[in-house]
Amino acid sequence: MSSDKYSFDKVIKRENSRAIKYDFREKLFGTSDVIPLWVADMDFPVAPAIQKALQKRVDHPVMGYTNRPQSFFNAIKSWLKAHYDWSVDDSWLEFSPGVVPNIAIAVQAFTDVGDGVVIQPPVYPPFFSVVRDFGREVIENPLKNENGRYYIDFEHLDKVTSNSSVKLLLLCHPHNPVGRVWSKAELYKIGEIALKNGVTIISDEIHCDLTLYKNKHTPIASLSKEIADITVTCMAPSKTFNLAGLSTAYMVVSNEKLLHKLRTYLSGFHLHMGNVFGPIALEAAYNESQEWLNDLKNYLEGNIDFVIDFINKKMPELKVEKPEATYLLWINFEGFNMKSSQLKSFLVNEAKIGLNDGLTFGKQGRGFMRMNIASSRTVIEKALNQLLDARNRIIK
Ligand SMILES: Cc1ncc(COP(=O)(O)O)c(C=O)c1O
Repeated sequence: MSSDKYSFDKVIKRENSRAIKYDFREKLFGTSDVIPLWVADMDFPVAPAIQKALQKRVDHPVMGYTNRPQSFFNAIKSWLKAHYDWSVDDSWLEFSPGVVPNIAIAVQAFTDVGDGVVIQPPVYPPFFSVVRDFGREVIENPLKNENGRYYIDFEHLDKVTSNSSVKLLLLCHPHNPVGRVWSKAELYKIGEIALKNGVTIISDEIHCDLTLYKNKHTPIASLSKEIADITVTCMAPSKTFNLAGLSTAYMVVSNEKLLHKLRTYLSGFHLHMGNVFGPIALEAAYNESQEWLNDLKNYLEGNIDFVIDFINKKMPELKVEKPEATYLLWINFEGFNMKSSQLKSFLVNEAKIGLNDGLTFGKQGRGFMRMNIASSRTVIEKALNQLLDARNRIIK
């Protein structure tokens, strides 16, 4: 492995680069004195082809309205075909500045005020807010935690979706924060239940390209025509290639009726325009950056192995499972025997590390923290040593 070919080991200063992860520490943790291992972006530089393509565009000094040329559609279609053997039509693609905006629009397009939307907590916090902010009701189908590995409670999913006021399922696949890549068998079951109960699936597959340890992702809509017909798939190059600041996401929707409803909202809010840089970055990522992604995944696996080994050997009261995808670790801190507020204060003030509080992912996240390991190994090692030192000082 030539990990340093792409400078994953190099610590790049991100302060004063308008990075939320760094600049919002004061606001979120009450101090800037924490190693930020929270919001889901990476501390790594983008692939060289992306930087080069963006630089070339910056050299042209006019930044007017922009279009999406055929080469942009081709890049998406080739990527989906090559990685997921999924053949997609130009006419199935729609765009907005983000996956969360796309989910929020889908909630508005497919439900009325008071309707139920099923989510599977512990789950990415905006899954709660995009439902509640628009007067819809969150219906929980909690994941089952069996010795640290998470599973879907299908019986309960069938029960909640059979209620006629429930219109949507927001699927997180791969799942943030628990790191599961749902298997084909699990996805078929989800599809079967949704079809039976007349529920539309909004499948957030933003982490799909970040499968690790030889796990394979299957887009749920690629399973059958029937499932594709009730599914909106939300994707983006933002997590995979560290492009979140370029606000470029897409949806794949083969059912014309669903697409038409989404388009009414997208064009109603004038969200479909896009920016100059995002599509250029997407093309350079999908067409020219496969080797970078392979090396990135090796590096992430190395970081995950390192953290899990460190925890198992030195802090065995903490529990953490290897994720099947994502650069996010879902760590069970219950072994520290602290109340939620105590644990938060301990991590910030004693260990001086900034993690995401598990409770923001739903009540099932009590006692957990989410750790973002997409940083140089030296940073991760420093954070773990700070945690260990604090634990040795405080916890007898
Ligand atoms: C599951 C999931 N969906 C969506 C997003 C954010 O998407 P966007 O920035 O495109 O709105 C994230 C970011 O962490 C995520 O984990």
